[in-house]
Amino acid sequence: MGAGISIDDIYSLVSPKAKLLDSSGMLLHALSMPKYLSESIVRYKEDVSKLTLPDPSTFDGVVISGMGGSFISGLFLQDLASDRSSKAIILNRDVRLPRFIDEKKLLVAVSYSGNTEETLRIYLEGLRRNIPVVAVTSGGELAAVSEKLGKPVIRLPPGIPPRAAFPHLTAAIAALTSSVLGLDLLGELRRAIDELAKREDSVLSDGLALSRLLFSDVQNNLTPLIYGYSPYLSPAYRFKTQINENSKIHAFFGELPEVNHNEIMGWNGVLKSFTVVFVRGREEPKYMEARIEFLENLFDKNNIRFYNLHGNCEKRACELLSLIMKADVVSIALALLLGVDPTPVDTITQLKKFLDSKIGFSLHREIN
Ligand code: PA5
Repeated sequence: MGAGISIDDIYSLVSPKAKLLDSSGMLLHALSMPKYLSESIVRYKEDVSKLTLPDPSTFDGVVISGMGGSFISGLFLQDLASDRSSKAIILNRDVRLPRFIDEKKLLVAVSYSGNTEETLRIYLEGLRRNIPVVAVTSGGELAAVSEKLGKPVIRLPPGIPPRAAFPHLTAAIAALTSSVLGLDLLGELRRAIDELAKREDSVLSDGLALSRLLFSDVQNNLTPLIYGYSPYLSPAYRFKTQINENSKIHAFFGELPEVNHNEIMGWNGVLKSFTVVFVRGREEPKYMEARIEFLENLFDKNNIRFYNLHGNCEKRACELLSLIMKADVVSIALALLLGVDPTPVDTITQLKKFLDSKIGFSLHREIN
């Protein structure tokens, strides 16, 4: 990472106990994102070329369905491509598909583990409604059933926390959807990695600096509130979810300009123990700049702490990646400063076990 700085040096920049706390090397996962993305682009381009899929011109859009760490890559691709493709990019996080989704959409069912009930139900519904469906997974029921039925599946490497599989998931989904969307998404990602390589030092230093500021705010009982806007929603939303899962604290996300029509009133009230981060990119339009300026003035008047997290690339793909890397570094360093291991997500695991015992949804059983 960067000019001769080792991972051990980076841990010691965070705190003396940081390395010991980070049981599965989450920090290294985050900092290796460009490398994993670069390898995945080659791998999934080849894997997708071997699948038998309908002619891309028969599709009028793609539906990307997944939860949590398996959702964010879809949002990233929507940020990257939706204002340039004439085809729809529909994201789904429900257990059902909207009625209008038909066989003219390519359904990409994304579950890193392959055992997430919501995504398995979507996969099943896709099969039952004859919607062309591709599974993206490291295994579980999703892989087993797809293979049993001879349906297309893209296999992810096993043994990674789902949210750390972001580069693999992103490259796999981009490889699957590029030809439908009529964009060279893999080429864009490859160029973004080259651009990002020149900026890795500032990604790390900006991330560590913000983690220290948020650590101090959290110790003063302030809850992070992340504000973002299109086309930078994926890093802003990723930031909130990474703080939740890595740092194990509450964090909330709001989308501009909508929050200015409701949430903004909350700053007049009694519940305002928040620290705000604006996630901002180079393509920020004047109308957004003015809205943020108003909020900054309001926060100054009300003694609300706020920060700006900027991307630092020319092109959108690189800017999104740099912001996601920074958000990841902040959330992991914040965890380590709080004395928390970023990797385990015990309560999510307990919930999944509880649902299994209560509902016991099985894709195998449903298809038999
Ligand atoms: O990061 C996580 O562990 C979660 O957000 C999971 O991604 C989420 O629970 C869905 O699981 P999966 O990605 O295995 O479908």
